[in-house]
Amino acid sequence: MSAPRRVLVLNGPNLGRLGRRQPEIYGATTHAELADLCVAWGAERGLEVEVRQTNHEGELLDWLNAAADDETPVVLNAAAWTHYSYALYDACAQLVAPLVEVHISDPERRPEVFRHTSVVTPHAATVIAGHGIDGYRRALEFIATPDRH
Ligand code: DQA
Repeated sequence: MSAPRRVLVLNGPNLGRLGRRQPEIYGATTHAELADLCVAWGAERGLEVEVRQTNHEGELLDWLNAAADDETPVVLNAAAWTHYSYALYDACAQLVAPLVEVHISDPERRPEVFRHTSVVTPHAATVIAGHGIDGYRRALEFIATPDRH
């Protein structure tokens, strides 16, 4: 049997407070619970999932640069950086394996106009938004199904 394919799930700023942060928008699941779910969802699909969260943009850029070098698929919820970071745009442009953009809410349907732009979307194989944390399961499903990308 071949080794499980490694996948990174990378979460950006303020997502470490999931469960406490605006639960009416982002739900009651904590980041630790989300991480456990992602590992389990991945394992069911033969993926070895590693979940990370950071409030420091340079750290996310370092992880993306390493994912480019290693050709690792990435599920990315870059949170607010999604909407304005050209450094993030440039990092995503270098990825080789599929990149899936995930948002718990649907930024395009939210009232703040700044949320309607994404620097990630031009480089994403697909965008999954507005499905709560189930969006991460859908993203892993997408990565595990090569005929979809
Ligand atoms: C988010 C949406 C972003 O607009 C916001 O800045 C976030 C979370 C989401 O998952 O719905 O922090 O990416």
